[in-house]
Amino acid sequence: MQTKYLTFCDQHLAQAGQLIREGQLVAFPTETVYGLGANAWDEQAVLSTFQAKGRPSDNPLIVHIWDKGQIPQIARSICDMAQKVIDQLMPAPLTIVLPKQPTISNVITAGLDTVAIRMPMSKQARDFLQACQVPVTAPSANTSSRPSPTNWQRVAEDMDGKIAAVLCGDACQVGIESTVLDLSTDTPRILRPGMVSPQQIAAVIGQPVQVITNPKDKVNSPGVRYKHYAPKVPMALNLDGDKQKIADFYNQLVALGHNPVLLVADTNQYPGFNCHPIGKTNQQVAHNLFENLRLLENKYTYIIASFVGTGPLADSILNRLTKSAGNNIL
Ligand code: TXA
Ligand code: MG
Repeated sequence: MQTKYLTFCDQHLAQAGQLIREGQLVAFPTETVYGLGANAWDEQAVLSTFQAKGRPSDNPLIVHIWDKGQIPQIARSICDMAQKVIDQLMPAPLTIVLPKQPTISNVITAGLDTVAIRMPMSKQARDFLQACQVPVTAPSANTSSRPSPTNWQRVAEDMDGKIAAVLCGDACQVGIESTVLDLSTDTPRILRPGMVSPQQIAAVIGQPVQVITNPKDKVNSPGVRYKHYAPKVPMALNLDGDKQKIADFYNQLVALGHNPVLLVADTNQYPGFNCHPIGKTNQQVAHNLFENLRLLENKYTYIIASFVGTGPLADSILNRLTKSAGNNIL
C-alpha cells in the first residue's frame, strides 16, 4: 500500500476524514504522541489497527472524541466523579475508563466491560477528529513494543506502506502518553501515569486517587503487562546520578566492544564520553524522551540513561524509562 502524506489544509483534512469513514487507517498528531486512527464503528478497521502495529488483541484501544456530547454514545453511565473530570479537566492529555455501551465493539475493549475515552487538547487532533465525524480508536502509532512516535517522521519509520495516510502535523508537545484514569468503580485509580497528575484529579473529584505503580499489582489495564517503549539496543537506567558508577559502567561496556552513550542532564560532567542531553526540566525530558531513544538507537550500541527528577511528572517519566530499560537499573 502506498501511504499518503497529508497536511492540515482543508482539502487534506477532508480526505483524511473520508479515509477513516471508508475503513482505512490514518495516523494523526495529538499533544501526547501520534495516534493510529480507525473508525470506532467499523470493526474491520479497528482490527486492522492491531495488524498494522503487531499489537496483541487483548490490549484494548482508546476511543478519541472532539466533542463531550459524544461521550454518551460510548459510555453507558457517567458517575458524579466522571462528570466532574469531564467538566473540569477535559480536553487534556487524559483518558478516562467508564462502563461501555453495548454498541462499542469487544475488539476495541478486548472483551472488557469498560471503555477508555480521550478528548485531546491539541487543535490539530481535534480538527482531524471533527473531520472524521465518528469516534476514532487510536493507539500510539508505533510498532508494538517500540518507543511511541512524537513526530510524523517517526510514524513513517514504523508505518510507511502499512496504512493509508499520515497527517503530518506538529511534533507532540507533551511527548508521553495520556494519564489513564479508571473511573469505572468507586475507587478512582490511575492505571498509567501521565501529564495530568493524581493531585490535579484528586482536587477535582474531592477524594484521593489510587496510583497503580507496581506492574505486578492486579490491574484491569492489559497494556501495562507488555514490553514497552524499548529501543533496538540494550539500555540501562541510573536513578541516583552517581557519576563514578555511571562512568565505570560505561567503561566496562567499551571494554566489551560496545559503543555506548550517556543520556544525561549535564553532558559537561562527562568529558570524553559519548553524551546526549536528556533535558533540563521534567517537561523537556518528557517532550524529548521517545525521540531521544529513537535517535540514539541508530548511532550507538548501548544507552545509559540517568534521571534524578522529582515530582508528579517525574513519576510518569520514570514509568516510561523503567520500561524502556526493561528494568535494567544501574
Ligand atoms: O496519549 C495517548 O493516550 C495516546 C494518544 C494517541 O491518544 N494513545 C495511547 O494508546 O497511548 P495506547 O493504545 O498506546 O495505550 C492505551 C492504554 C493501554 O495501556 C491500554 O491497556 C489502556 O490504555 N486501556 C484501553 N482501554 C482500557 C480499558 N477499557 N480499561 C483499562 N485500560 C484500558
Ligand atoms: Mg502505546
